[in-house]
Amino acid sequence: MTLLNWHQLFQERLQTKHSKPAITTYFKHLLAAFFDWEPTVLGLYPDRELSSSQADELQKALEALQRDKPLQYIIGHTEFMDLTLKVGSDTLIPRPETEELVGWILEDHEPSRLTVTDLGTGSGCIALALKHYRPDWELHAVDVSIAALTVAEENAKMLSLRVHFHNADLGSSDIALPKCNLIVSNPPYVSFPEKVEMESNVLDYEPHLALFAPEQKPLYFYEQVFKIALKKLSKGGAIYLEINPLFCNELMEMVVSFGFKNPTIRQDLFGKNRMLRCQL
Ligand SMILES: C[S@@+](CC[C@H](N)C(=O)[O-])C[C@H]1O[C@@H](n2cnc3c(N)ncnc32)[C@H](O)[C@@H]1O
Repeated sequence: MTLLNWHQLFQERLQTKHSKPAITTYFKHLLAAFFDWEPTVLGLYPDRELSSSQADELQKALEALQRDKPLQYIIGHTEFMDLTLKVGSDTLIPRPETEELVGWILEDHEPSRLTVTDLGTGSGCIALALKHYRPDWELHAVDVSIAALTVAEENAKMLSLRVHFHNADLGSSDIALPKCNLIVSNPPYVSFPEKVEMESNVLDYEPHLALFAPEQKPLYFYEQVFKIALKKLSKGGAIYLEINPLFCNELMEMVVSFGFKNPTIRQDLFGKNRMLRCQL
């Protein structure tokens, strides 16, 4: 089969799930990831015959896409701001909203020396992006999942970025972290009732440890972040959180009850209340 035949097969098999341009984009990503081919190859060499091993790879990818597996897990990496990051079944796929959270921190803080802690780091996306844009900052990143931390460490190595990774539970009473100027967290925040509305590409493939807050306590992780902040944040320091828009009001109340000041909400690119900043 030629490249064009494969492209047509992808369009045919995936048409009920995705738009035509999206399928073409997926197809080109696969060509780049598997064979190192430029996106223009499809237009320039539609009659190129694929070898049987190349055809096998595309066939497996097509079947995985039909089963709703996210493209990022099929190719094993994703883009986050200017970084290419490895992702796998133990790490959440970083979202554009989280890029906005990092953007807010960069907007607020110039390249002076700061110590910053990322709680629930997953692939390491937040900590690594901050280190990339602010090389003078000292970055610490925490996760309970050793498997996720292994991926985050591989990303740090691949990008030659120095981040101090810590394996710890945000629920533990004392995590060995230094005092810091900023705390950032995108903790698990999906509440159980939201599960029924979730798409299978998320629910069936992304780690539930990264997605869901405890069933009876949807704000559990925010409470833990605030407790850690009371111990580890320097006076005048700030907290930046990605939040669940459904709990925006409760979170604002929680900020005040913990004694933090100047709570500010920011909307994401979809117009949802998605980020919260407050200060000690
Ligand atoms: C929503 S994901 C965020 C990952 C990454 N920061 C991002 O923005 O894509 C939440 C992360 O918190 C971690 N996590 C879950 N429970 C935790 C706990 N009790 N203590 C520390 N980390 C935890 C998960 O392993 C996951 O990597």
